[in-house]
Amino acid sequence: MIVVGNLKTYMTYKDIIEYKDNIPDDVIVCPTSLYIPYFLNHKYEIGIQDISCHDLGAHTGDICALQAKEFGIKYALIGHSERRNKETDDEINKKILKSLENNLKVILCVGENKGEDLKSKLQYQLLNDLKGVTNLDNVIIAYEPIWCIGTGVTPTNLQIEDTINFIQTIIQTNFKGNAKILYGGSVDKNNINTLKQIDNIAGFLIGKASTDYKYLKEIVDSLR
Ligand code: PGA
Repeated sequence: MIVVGNLKTYMTYKDIIEYKDNIPDDVIVCPTSLYIPYFLNHKYEIGIQDISCHDLGAHTGDICALQAKEFGIKYALIGHSERRNKETDDEINKKILKSLENNLKVILCVGENKGEDLKSKLQYQLLNDLKGVTNLDNVIIAYEPIWCIGTGVTPTNLQIEDTINFIQTIIQTNFKGNAKILYGGSVDKNNINTLKQIDNIAGFLIGKASTDYKYLKEIVDSLR
């Protein structure tokens, strides 16, 4: 199973110095960009938490896909709900296309907020964000209901399974290739044994619980 750790902006320099040498080899870790150099040359793979929708050029504060790829980064996390209020689906779509053009794999986050219609929201995000993507083999989709991120709440296994089937149907009808589908939102060492029983799940995107390497190791161990 795929395990992605999204470290967000949780850790200080002192925290990551111990953390980087103690996390499992078979995870994808997405550190704060400033700290990525400390995570290079380990066995695990590295993702960047966001990527520019532009190429090289005059874009202050951005990191573009070519720069990330050159640096040894393998994945770009795109469309996380903590960024979506700052960007449009059109920009998300450009970020995805730029990443794939530059051989970065994509982890696309989709999900509904409380009170939103799950199916129409996901369909809108998937069709708009993935416009022009000809093959989904290098795309991982993370289903992250916004009401579950950082709240300690998760949907039932059956709800997640139904949503993954729904995403799979949209993908098979509209795109080529096979995207793997993860679940994210309040995954931790206490619920992983329940969540791992979901039939069609390819893995998990973990925020807060991934920032403690001992917790992360427990989660990974329970999936192996
Ligand atoms: P959480 O975050 O595990 O802390 O809920 C998940 C995410 O935002 O990717």
